[in-house]
Amino acid sequence: MSDNEVFEPAQEIVDEAWVSDWQALEEQAKADPAGYWQDRAHELEWSQPWDAVLDDSKAPFFQWFTGARTNIVTNAIDRHLSTARRNKLALIWVGEDTSKVRTFSYFALNREVERMANILKAMGVVKGDIVTIYLPRIPEIFFAMLACAKIGAVHSVVFAGYSSEALNARIDGAESKLVITADGSWVNGKVFPLKQIVDEAVKFSPTVENVVVVRNTGSEVTMDPTRDHWYDALCKLPIAKGHCDTVQVDAEDPLFILYTSGSTGNPKAIVHTHGGYQVGTYTTLKYCFDIKESDRWWCTADPGWITGHSYLVYGPLLNGATVFMHEGGPTFPYPDGWWELIEHYGITSFYTAPTAIRTLMRFGDAWVRKHDLSSLRILGTVGEPINPEAWRWFHRVVGNDRCPITDTWWQTETGMFQITTVPSMPLKPGSAGRPVFGQEAAIVDEEGNEVPDGTEGYLVLKNPWPAMMRTLFHDPDRYLNTYWSKYPGLYLTGDSARRDEDGYFWIIGRTDDVIKVSGHRLGTAEIESALISHPAVAEAAAIGLPHEVKGNAVHVAVVLNRGFEPSKQLEADLRSHVAETLSPIAKPDTFDFTEKLPKTRSGKIMRRVLRARALGQDEGDLSTLDND
Ligand code: WT7
Repeated sequence: MSDNEVFEPAQEIVDEAWVSDWQALEEQAKADPAGYWQDRAHELEWSQPWDAVLDDSKAPFFQWFTGARTNIVTNAIDRHLSTARRNKLALIWVGEDTSKVRTFSYFALNREVERMANILKAMGVVKGDIVTIYLPRIPEIFFAMLACAKIGAVHSVVFAGYSSEALNARIDGAESKLVITADGSWVNGKVFPLKQIVDEAVKFSPTVENVVVVRNTGSEVTMDPTRDHWYDALCKLPIAKGHCDTVQVDAEDPLFILYTSGSTGNPKAIVHTHGGYQVGTYTTLKYCFDIKESDRWWCTADPGWITGHSYLVYGPLLNGATVFMHEGGPTFPYPDGWWELIEHYGITSFYTAPTAIRTLMRFGDAWVRKHDLSSLRILGTVGEPINPEAWRWFHRVVGNDRCPITDTWWQTETGMFQITTVPSMPLKPGSAGRPVFGQEAAIVDEEGNEVPDGTEGYLVLKNPWPAMMRTLFHDPDRYLNTYWSKYPGLYLTGDSARRDEDGYFWIIGRTDDVIKVSGHRLGTAEIESALISHPAVAEAAAIGLPHEVKGNAVHVAVVLNRGFEPSKQLEADLRSHVAETLSPIAKPDTFDFTEKLPKTRSGKIMRRVLRARALGQDEGDLSTLDND
């Protein structure tokens, strides 16, 4: 990696950008972070102003805009309705079958959200209830999330690729009374049976009273007349009709919980709130992607992940932008489907993941060159480090050497970008950039001392920020222990990184037992417990190994129960078992069937040894290995 390869921004980009003089704003925000955030918050509507921008009296349980009343929907939809944006397209949706297109102006989106909100209310959902949403990339996921927010309910979106067991755990954790799903989703031309998975999941969920089912694939599903309701039928009922007020909530009231994988134990439910989250996502999208009135914004992430929450649903609508959402993936049916959509819909701003870029790069330039991508103004990436080679390809071939690339480092927990660039900054391929205005980051050693520039260490964040998670749902102790106990006063990201002499950060990877596979976040513990639930498996350990396209591949060491022999068939069985009990994303790529896992005397799996074995490297110091 070369720190010296720098792409300077074109003068016209600097002149046009919201932030032209980034050094000045960086300095100003550094001197007075609360003042910086207060100025940004004034660009949004609040029905009651705040007493304090930041209340750190219970740190690290920080609170933002305390005393204020607002609702993210007031700012994402309602405030646009009294302006010319009322008739502007809010959402353009294109199905996996690209002949299926649905568009919604802000006026039409509001009508859909009101209808869904009326239905939720009629089903007894009240402020503070958690609604589980298990929907694919279709417009109804926008309606469902926004409808919950509008009435002060809390959404818990579960990625519509998770298994029934994973869904069950998330429904139970949230004690949801209502689940919103679809009959199925389209995945590379095949139907993924969402409703069937919900049926399995709610069998063991005592709290669920109602399941709302959106018709999407037209597949046959079983409907329980006492529990299940077709959404299209509900929409025809009188209860669905009419205006629905946007409830004004406390700035610190929860907006959503979102489960994410940690290094140990169960997935963590991250809590985000209305007030700070709207300020953080609104500002970062506006500045880092220079969102303008005429933009068409496409974020390829699924709404089931934080990227979808912050920068597919909320951030763009808060900015009054036109959002583009596509049901399909990058290569089906042809590897130029995405380029075709950019050309056809005049996409100006395109935000995707390194893994997708690497996948498409392998198909060669010709697929891209077939299309006129001159509408593109700015590109972005997220989810894992982007290798300079993929960065350069994205810049040269997709962006025609013209479009800045905004690499955005952040996390489910941070809610908004933390390390990135604005288009007027010089770019360095492979570096995520600089801390966002108002933030300071550092690289520290084991003891918490800052290390010299160029040295690898733990990445920490120094300042609180408005869109930060407030706690872990029902588990404030784990919030403290996971993020704030290693270095009191510093937020532990779980990543390793280095900073160069220009103040640019280079992310290296996770330091804990989290594996990023194609940008998806998996806990080794989750993969291991999925494997152990198979009758052939006595013990299992999962690690990530470098992979050219996926960033990391899942490698597992497995000890078999007596009576089972390693075979290709068993590998295939274990792969589909993990897909069914956890998620297809988590399927192991490679297996090492072994008699014994390398463990320390205290019983901790030595992943370093497994990694060395898998890569054919020296296993290093084995003195702590338990050899009994
Ligand atoms: C982890 C968070 C919120 C973004 C989607 C993923 C890795 C994320 C980058 C980037 C290098 C990145 C980190 C981080 N990561 N973005 N631009 N460059 N690494 O959110 O699933 O909560 O995962 O993703 O390791 O800790 P997430």
